[in-house]
Amino acid sequence: MDIGVIGAGYVGLVTAACFAKLGHKVICVDIDTAKINALKKGKIPIYEPGLDQLVRSGLRAKNIYFTANIKSAIAKSTVIFIAVGTPPKDNGEADLTYIENVARKIATEMPSYRLIVEKSTVPVQTGKRIEETIKAYNKKKIKFDVASNPEFLREGQAISDFLSPDRIVIGVNSKKARDILSSIYASFKAPIIVTDIESAELIKHASNSFLAMKISYINSIANICERCGADIVKVSKGIGLDRRIGKDFLNSGVGFGGFCFPKDLEAFIRISEKLGYDFDLLRSVKRVNDYQKILFIKKIEESLWVLNGKTIAVLGIAFKPNTDDIRYAPAIDIIKMLQNEGVKIKAFDPQAMKNAKTVLKDVKFCKDAYSAVRDSDCLCIITDWDEFKSLDLKRVKRLMKQPIIVDGRNIYEPKDVEKFGLKYKGIGRYYDRRHQD
Ligand code: UDX
Repeated sequence: MDIGVIGAGYVGLVTAACFAKLGHKVICVDIDTAKINALKKGKIPIYEPGLDQLVRSGLRAKNIYFTANIKSAIAKSTVIFIAVGTPPKDNGEADLTYIENVARKIATEMPSYRLIVEKSTVPVQTGKRIEETIKAYNKKKIKFDVASNPEFLREGQAISDFLSPDRIVIGVNSKKARDILSSIYASFKAPIIVTDIESAELIKHASNSFLAMKISYINSIANICERCGADIVKVSKGIGLDRRIGKDFLNSGVGFGGFCFPKDLEAFIRISEKLGYDFDLLRSVKRVNDYQKILFIKKIEESLWVLNGKTIAVLGIAFKPNTDDIRYAPAIDIIKMLQNEGVKIKAFDPQAMKNAKTVLKDVKFCKDAYSAVRDSDCLCIITDWDEFKSLDLKRVKRLMKQPIIVDGRNIYEPKDVEKFGLKYKGIGRYYDRRHQD
């Protein structure tokens, strides 16, 4: 199949590289010529494990081709996936300018039948708008179909999520569109759910906000744990083993971040409002998530009493491990809040420091975790990178001015830390010192 992917961002690039691996001929387009030139040489603008090898092998096999020329991509591709950005406007709504531009371009440039597939996360009914736009600008009355095929990939494991998904969702309104998309995914083992376009669009919103809800729910339970002497790790396990609930996304911490959950949640609240429904539940999900960061600062304050003038080591800036992405990362807000209180920050992240330097001021970025903790009054763990799970705690204790760890991701067991003479605070953690099992 000749496939065009418009937009070489996270979703676009992974989609293009994975389709190329499956043997399709893929043209990936972006307006950013510097990015395209780098991609042509196999240089990947983001950190995503395995993506660089996949792109380079696609280039070698001549299955993937990068260009800034959208016209040629439209001319050569029967199926066009739209994976351009839908950034948030000031009011939280998704800005669909790029989608609309692409739709108009396809309308004027397509030489024959095209299947246009939404891959970006878009508000429900965008498919209908794309169809109307293409009809309005398609003077030659060339036949086309629009479809929705939402992507559920997670950063850091995007390739395996793409190639081994739990399900494939295809929203179509013609048999031809259904047949084409089904054949593209024919080699996948996952169940294919075929729906109308609106339902497919809604599946994406509903999935993301459900997962965000799970996180805010468990964080609320963690806050109750702290007040009643229960331990969230045990409570989570006890809840998650109920198959109706499931154990994933029940890790309490400083809250969710990243470019999807916060943005998509906000957009879904706005869409619901526009549709005449007040999705109060989701507004609470957001409120709980925002408050989690403030509670984290309060925990540090409880340990240090006065924040002003203290030095805090922050381990982890990325919104989660295995990515260099700092968009809506809890660490960024937490660092800024601490700086407002007069705290000096020393920080380390295995991948995200280059990006962090562009948004954070007056932070001492360190070469490793131990340089960050040296002479600090408190160590805050904000991202659960694997390498932070096996710190030499004896060394940490020796290096710190005050031996205090505030663990925003519950990567340590309180008793394992306290035996090194370090004071420990997690999120919703409690253990009865009489029964140290
Ligand atoms: C998410 C969705 O999972 C994915 O399906 C969608 O396509 C895009 O958005 P991603 O943003 O890459 O993917 O990250 P994810 O792994 O889902 O984590 C999101 C945030 O939730 C992170 O900040 C993570 O630390 C936090 N999280 C996750 C928790 O706080 N607790 C958990 O139990 C799970």
